[in-house]
Amino acid sequence: MDNRAIGVFDSGLGGLTAVRELRRLLPNENIVYFGDTGRVPYGSRGKEVIARYAHQDIRFLQSHDVKMIVCACGTVSSVLGKELSEEAALPSTGVLLPAAQAACARSTNGRIGIIGTAATIRSGALARAIRSIRPEARIFGNACPLLVPIAEAGLAKSDNVIAREAVAMYLEPLKKEGIDTLILGCTHFPLFYDLINEYFDYQVELVDSGREVARHVQAFLTTHDLLCDPAQQSQCKFYVSDDVEGFVPTAELFLGDTIGHRVSRVEVDTL
Ligand code: DGL
Repeated sequence: MDNRAIGVFDSGLGGLTAVRELRRLLPNENIVYFGDTGRVPYGSRGKEVIARYAHQDIRFLQSHDVKMIVCACGTVSSVLGKELSEEAALPSTGVLLPAAQAACARSTNGRIGIIGTAATIRSGALARAIRSIRPEARIFGNACPLLVPIAEAGLAKSDNVIAREAVAMYLEPLKKEGIDTLILGCTHFPLFYDLINEYFDYQVELVDSGREVARHVQAFLTTHDLLCDPAQQSQCKFYVSDDVEGFVPTAELFLGDTIGHRVSRVEVDTL
């Protein structure tokens, strides 16, 4: 048993979709979340900068004596790969492998789509992870950078014409390829879950990387006897690197819950 918190980080808000799933599966666990809202987006940056930011994010979580580090950012998970776990020096996971495993298990025809940020798609890491499990798979990727600001603006809704058009524009090439499974390789994208399902007439399996990483964490903590005391009253603390006021309303959209006064600002230069 281990009552220390699970540490979760993301470039900003998307990782809260993983926190939402963690709280659903592991309601007693303490969580420390760091969202680098002062430097988001990571997805349009190069590897060196993403690695430097991720290093600081991990150091911040380590300073909170967490028992596991969850990189709930598709971009960092894809760009850093194994470097992430070496860096963490603690049990850790990104979203990449859990998402790839789920897609391989669910795809019938072996035609798998991936959507993510430009850096995620450019890295090719998700495609490599899928091929290592299903070498015969046909993989089709598309970078969807506009979905990130649309989600953050609270516009990822079925009745929003901008969101619908953006989803159609990015997914049309994948639909033409006859994919039967789609990895939402960016933790912002679960906000488009219903819209994407509607676009595919509910015919395509959607793999939510936040949900898959939460399942992975649950299995890991269970197998390694690292779950908390089941009687523990969970505490979630949120840290951001930009204004708290700007974070709370949008964060509640991603989390599907209220955040209240549990958010603090950290100076990114001190990380
Ligand atoms: N949450 C990030 C990801 O999963 C997307 C936002 C960003 O570009 O930093 O890739």
